[in-house]
Amino acid sequence: MFTAGTHTSAVTMEWAMSLLLNHPEVMKKARLEIDNLIGETHPLEEPDILKLPYLRCIINETLRLFPAGPLLVPHFSTQDCTIEGYHIPKSTILFVNIWEIQRDSKIWEEANEFKPERFERGIEGCKFIPFGMGRRACPGSGLAMRLIGLVLGLFIQCFEWERIGDELDGSMPVLIVSSPSAVKECFTKNDIIFANRPRSMAGDWLTFNYTAYIWAPYGQLWKILRRLTVMELLSSNNLQKTSNVRDQEVVNFTRSFFKFCNGRSRNVDLTNWICTFSFNLMNKIVAGRHLVSEEDAGMGKGIAMIKRLKGIFIVDIPVLNMCDFLPLLRWIGYKGMEKKMSLVHNQRNEFLNNLLEEFRQEKVSVGNREKNNTLIGTLLSLQESEPEFYTEDVIFIAGTDTSSTSLQWVMRLLLAHPEALHKLRAEIDSQVGNERLLNESDLTKLPYLRSVINETLRLYHPVPLLLPHYSSEDCTVGGYDVPKHTILLVNIWAIQRDPKVWKEPNEFKPERFKAMEGEKEGLNNKLISFGMGRRSCPGATMGTRAISLALGALIQCFDWQSMGEENLELSYNSRINIQKNKSLEAIYTPRSNFVQLLSQL
Ligand code: HEM
Repeated sequence: MFTAGTHTSAVTMEWAMSLLLNHPEVMKKARLEIDNLIGETHPLEEPDILKLPYLRCIINETLRLFPAGPLLVPHFSTQDCTIEGYHIPKSTILFVNIWEIQRDSKIWEEANEFKPERFERGIEGCKFIPFGMGRRACPGSGLAMRLIGLVLGLFIQCFEWERIGDELDGSMPVLIVSSPSAVKECFTKNDIIFANRPRSMAGDWLTFNYTAYIWAPYGQLWKILRRLTVMELLSSNNLQKTSNVRDQEVVNFTRSFFKFCNGRSRNVDLTNWICTFSFNLMNKIVAGRHLVSEEDAGMGKGIAMIKRLKGIFIVDIPVLNMCDFLPLLRWIGYKGMEKKMSLVHNQRNEFLNNLLEEFRQEKVSVGNREKNNTLIGTLLSLQESEPEFYTEDVIFIAGTDTSSTSLQWVMRLLLAHPEALHKLRAEIDSQVGNERLLNESDLTKLPYLRSVINETLRLYHPVPLLLPHYSSEDCTVGGYDVPKHTILLVNIWAIQRDPKVWKEPNEFKPERFKAMEGEKEGLNNKLISFGMGRRSCPGATMGTRAISLALGALIQCFDWQSMGEENLELSYNSRINIQKNKSLEAIYTPRSNFVQLLSQL
């Protein structure tokens, strides 16, 4: 009762205010009516509502255009019956599309216009039924009308109003593209137009006021960050120079993974180990140190640390949610989402501030040159020349979440396809041997490893709808007009599994990439795991290298056994990301001809 009444009344009030802000002449007329009745003697009271017909017309017109329940609540038939000559069987669900009825141009003049005056003449019949009809009609309609009238009346009577921000006009245009040709159009011809990101509730909380790289508006700050990453930090030159950091991380990881099993078979929570590797690698690059020490990895303290970090950085918060499309839901605290976001924001803030503070102190006390080569070192020196430049960036999150999720998927797939695992191992054995651990310079000689990763990103992408883009101008895509301020979602899940583009699209077949090498079009616009155009992933090369190295080492040095059948499709909830709370477990044993090498790492 509480939910039914609160939600519907609040939605209607919000729509009414939005319509009034769009139609100041209606607002003026409503105020005149209130002023004539009450003057300035007292604020509007409930009994006054009945004496304000124009205010009532405004509420009715709002309920006509934006009914709180556009399909009413479903009804259910208990017997056979007929409607307009059609036989309707027992147990039929009935939906009443009042959105359609109340905007039907055969019934309403200028059906989509906001014209409260139309209700002055009274409305007959069942063309206006925002509260339903018959036995199950809303019993709270009278109370709702009074409540809405009172709040709206007080707003109009007591305050001056002016609209700021975007209009609430009943729709937020969203363009979903699911074909390679449309993707190409969006990110070539229209690339600058779609180079923005929409504002959203998640953005409001988790992007440090939209200064974080992945959410920054297309402008000066984003351009500086892009230049810094693409030309410097993540450039192929710099990646070459820093390859020893990643190689060393893989050595550390493999060594502690070997120690953990003590030379024997052991069950392992791979999710925890993969996250340990990813967090440690990213933190090394960002701040020059590990988060989980080698002794703690896989043990109680390390597991607790990873759990805490996942709770802060790898959280199941969709980048867009219902509240972004129905702002009122935000106001009523829909599903506690905003509360969760504010909590995560505080935790991230605290974590990143500590990281920065610690970094500054260490740098002062040690004067460490190594520290200057880290991401924070570079950002801090940049901040010295450009003080408004922000350092609390979440590049850390962008890289850790996607890399660790992809690494988990690739291991899941290989455990489910042992023939692919053996083929991959044979490639590594033949190119690297068993006298040393593979390193970055080997990667160009391991095409099957690359294909396995591509195939994983094709089937189980960590960001199946990319990140949302937002258009800054009108444009056309596929011959359709796309208005300014449209959210663009790229359904790479559909594109990368499209049977018109991929043979046996749902099968895990890394070999397909070798076969496609000779094709004219190649992978163009079909495999877009790192996005396309200006806002594509600047960490693509580094991310791929890190995954390849860690995966290569796991396959090169250990034998693997799955813990049982697992339904991969079910683990992939194809929402905005995979289920974050499902751990991947397996049994591993050091390969006998690698024990010596592993003991010497
Ligand atoms: C397997 C690993 C990775 C995958 C699959 C991946 C994928 C993506 C995707 C799909 C986007 C969005 C593109 C778009 O909006 O059109 C993106 C953006 C981004 N990625 Fe990655 N990424 C990975 C690793 C990394 C790494 C390691 C870093 C950092 C070192 C990173 C940093 C970023 C940043 C900063 C953006 C935002 C770019 C912008 O808005 O201009 N990513 N990534």
